[in-house]
Amino acid sequence: MRIVSGTRPTGKLHIGHYVGILENWVNLQNKGHETFYFVADWHALTTGYDDTSKLYEYSREIIRTFLAVGLDPKKSVMYVQSAIKEHAELQLLFNMFTSVPRLERIPTYKDMKQQLEGKDLTNAGFLTYPVLQAADILIYKATAVPVGEDQLSHVEITREIARRFNFLYGEVFPEPESLLSTFPKLLGTDGRKMSKSYGNIINIDNNETDLKNSIMPMITDPARQRKTDAGNPEICPVWDYHRAFGINEEQRDWVFSGCTQAKIGCVQCKKLLLENMLKVFEPIWENLCEIDKNKGYIDDVIVEGNSKARKIASSTMEEVRNSMNLKF
Ligand code: TRP
Ligand code: SF4
Repeated sequence: MRIVSGTRPTGKLHIGHYVGILENWVNLQNKGHETFYFVADWHALTTGYDDTSKLYEYSREIIRTFLAVGLDPKKSVMYVQSAIKEHAELQLLFNMFTSVPRLERIPTYKDMKQQLEGKDLTNAGFLTYPVLQAADILIYKATAVPVGEDQLSHVEITREIARRFNFLYGEVFPEPESLLSTFPKLLGTDGRKMSKSYGNIINIDNNETDLKNSIMPMITDPARQRKTDAGNPEICPVWDYHRAFGINEEQRDWVFSGCTQAKIGCVQCKKLLLENMLKVFEPIWENLCEIDKNKGYIDDVIVEGNSKARKIASSTMEEVRNSMNLKF
């Protein structure tokens, strides 16, 4: 498969990104698929055009995290959207035949407007966000796009755009399928949706002390006021974390029976979680240290990735222009 996916540089990536997205990206890379992973900086502008002061820093931070979690520049092409101007040209052409009412009906359009109330989202760039996403995907002729549930409608319109283009101008694009992340979204440490504004997130770039300070006060099954109260892991965010961070069979039984029969305390349960999380994150933290020591490494990766991406993007655009009779 040829796989393309992107992340918006709106801040540091957190453990929810790791579990839902990055871990999956690394697996796809290591299974030997052709993988293209990029920083969607133009997409970040669609909702944040008024403050670009952190855009550069956050974009480099995303590549830094990609590298730390195990994306390998020898296996995956890592690049920055705005460096590949062809994405914008393709979006412009796609905009010619994409219906505005169709864009207005995309669920994320309405949802984001509601969620980000008070923010100006009447800009054309925000409405045409999914068209840019379609260009991101189709310009590399991707056959599959790993996404979370919230992005399914964007892959759907990408398929429609590919079909429409092929019908109007001749067969250029494959219709990519979505690879839905199998793991449900991790909740924040307080049991609410993970969100910077709630202060309930845990960043990937962290350390043992801070991780401990986030995990130990986590909310649990509210029925367990004291150790002698039986609990139900199915309604406990700590249990969701356990499932995300490599709990083994034996530990699973220990938590399940211990919780439902009031034989273990939540503190014990969280200590085990912390141990398992350290096994996942300590190697990542070490990688971050190495990356930071190696001045210039991130930029080298970006320059090389951009150049590989650009080659493919410009060759697709040749085909696109030809098929649309844009021959000058
Ligand atoms: N919209 C995606 C998100 O918010 C980011 C993105 C931009 C993307 N272009 C893409 C994802 C292309 C997959 C493929 O997460
Ligand atoms: Fe949650 Fe574990 Fe406490 Fe059960 S024992 S309520 S799973 S933290």
